[in-house]
Amino acid sequence: MPYTAVHQTRSQSTAWGVASQGQRSQMEYLRQDHETAEAHAARLLAILQERDAKESAESAEWAKAEVVEAACESGTSDGAEGSPGSLEEVEAMLVAQSEERQNPMALEVLKSLQQCAVYTDAPNHETNRKLWDAYANSWNSDKDWVKRMSKHVSRDDLQCLGDEWSDAESLEAVLHEWLYSYLEGCPKVAEIGSGGGRVAARVAPKVERLVCFDLSEGMLARAKSRIAELGHRHVEFQLVQGGTSYPEEYRNCFDFVYSFDVFVHMDLHQMRQTLHCMRSILRPGGLCFISFANLLAPDGWRRFAKQRHYSVGGFYFVSPDIVSCLLKQTGFSLIRMSKPQAGNTYLNRDLLVIASKVA
Ligand SMILES: C[S@@+](CC[C@H](N)C(=O)[O-])C[C@H]1O[C@@H](n2cnc3c(N)ncnc32)[C@H](O)[C@@H]1O
Repeated sequence: MPYTAVHQTRSQSTAWGVASQGQRSQMEYLRQDHETAEAHAARLLAILQERDAKESAESAEWAKAEVVEAACESGTSDGAEGSPGSLEEVEAMLVAQSEERQNPMALEVLKSLQQCAVYTDAPNHETNRKLWDAYANSWNSDKDWVKRMSKHVSRDDLQCLGDEWSDAESLEAVLHEWLYSYLEGCPKVAEIGSGGGRVAARVAPKVERLVCFDLSEGMLARAKSRIAELGHRHVEFQLVQGGTSYPEEYRNCFDFVYSFDVFVHMDLHQMRQTLHCMRSILRPGGLCFISFANLLAPDGWRRFAKQRHYSVGGFYFVSPDIVSCLLKQTGFSLIRMSKPQAGNTYLNRDLLVIASKVA
């Protein structure tokens, strides 16, 4: 296994694991007093080879776990082939592309430092911003990776960044039941994490004012051009940081706020922070619609079991009781929760909720 791959899997360790391995490695890496340069290099190589061997052993353990789980799942498999994991593949490709652009020596030093350092985790919103900026800047409907992701989408349906994420029927069914039906009597609406404008383009004709919030400038630029192409002039775009409050001008401003296919990429603390932001811009009594990745849904579990660890391109899975707790603690009252439904990409994988802002 190449050393770059070692670095990526290493970063999966828990904070304590990294601390103990890091402290030990840090000393091991140093050249000893009476060690020649050649002996030092040979010893470093041995350390790296030992790490590679450990990685292979860990992978073998994972493979065994998968066999056991596949056996437990007997007969329940449907629809999980193809799309799960493909966003993670894109994430890996974007990381590799970004590494190609770096100075190789600087990159090696950085990787060594990351292996030794105790705390290297970037905040969730920073990683989200980098991934989605790279995604937006690289996306083109003619690119091979976009075509691979959109195998289940007809060429005509691939109009806008994001159309590759699901079949159009699943998306439309969810939006009809969980979004459009709540927009009546809600002239002022906000979308959190609007991406390339796939949902905003559908919502815009139904409302008087739509503000699209996103932390990726690249995504906001994509959404802006898509909405302009469609001729909607009442849609605004707001860059947010993810780790801070939303601008004061939006306080209590909206009748309805929604966030679709966005919380699936956040860790729990980021979800909590974003719920506080959503609450701040909703009027008292206003409603919100949010989708989460659901560990208890059939395709939610399948996708979770295929992930080695959480990454932004993969999902962060929650369960209905965690969502209820998050909503209650952040000042929302739960109104409705979805049940898994076979045949729909989102309903069989996610948990959809409608909640209202407690005054
Ligand atoms: C998978 S895309 C979904 C886009 C859109 N909702 C859709 O369904 O087409 C996720 C989007 O959420 C944005 N995002 C991620 N974390 C966010 C956060 N903490 N605050 C605002 N936007 C965020 C990303 O930049 C990206 O544009």
